[in-house]
Amino acid sequence: MLVSAKEMLQKAKAGKYAVGQFNINNLEWTKAILLTAQEMNSPVILGVSEGAGKYMTGYKTVVGMVKGMLEELKITVPVALHLDHGSYEGCLKCIEAGFSSIMFDGSHYPIEENVAKTSELVKICNEKGMSLEAEVGSIGGEEDGVVGAGECADPQECKAIADLGVTMLAAGIGNIHGKYPENWKGLSFDTLAAVQELTGEMPLVLHGGTGIPEDMIKKAISLGVAKINVNTECQLSFAAATREYIEAGKDLQGKGFDPRKLLAPGFEAIKATVREKIALFGSENKA
Ligand code: 13P
Repeated sequence: MLVSAKEMLQKAKAGKYAVGQFNINNLEWTKAILLTAQEMNSPVILGVSEGAGKYMTGYKTVVGMVKGMLEELKITVPVALHLDHGSYEGCLKCIEAGFSSIMFDGSHYPIEENVAKTSELVKICNEKGMSLEAEVGSIGGEEDGVVGAGECADPQECKAIADLGVTMLAAGIGNIHGKYPENWKGLSFDTLAAVQELTGEMPLVLHGGTGIPEDMIKKAISLGVAKINVNTECQLSFAAATREYIEAGKDLQGKGFDPRKLLAPGFEAIKATVREKIALFGSENKA
């Protein structure tokens, strides 16, 4: 059964560790993440971007696949199925399709509009027992080859959104999606400390988990981060392992072209990445 992310994140915040959100793209991704979380007895959040939802043919397909896997793989650790960076319309679609958690990314709206739209969704999510993530301060990243800098959120605006009753809050602290550029200045721990000071118990979310050095991850957790999103790193490890298999000519040997063989090294590589992150975030044996 899918669960809201509320309880797992409140426990993580209180216990000073973080739960990983790993984004999924297809069956291999989903299976690798679920099996690893189960092996490590860790709660886990499966992230689905609107683009990935479209790629998998729609949110209903995603819900069907994930629920089927929970049953067939006998997954007993807490699993939340979460919309990542949702638009208002995307959130409504995922609520309808049976997700257990959503993120409304209103960070590009003026704060008044972010507040108004987030409030509407707080009401719906409360009725349905779903968790809701909101965002303040946009998280940069590479789009069409241009790397946008990560903004630092205004702590007062974070408080205004937290007070609406969201479950968890993503605050921009100089983090970006994708690989970090050479000249990246690092996370702004002053911003994070100020946000945590004003938002108290609220579990904070760190996006752009790929490529943040371990010491910064640990410091962020100590300052109230209870959910860390990882996407690109699984894609990079999958691609590297697949490249190695093909460059070694293994797809040309015997039935090496069988997708169940061809995709196996990439699948194992995702498992290894997720394992490493769960250990670093401290959520092992916290199911
Ligand atoms: P990365 O792709 O940088 O790991 O970021 C993931 C993320 O924050 C998804 O919302």
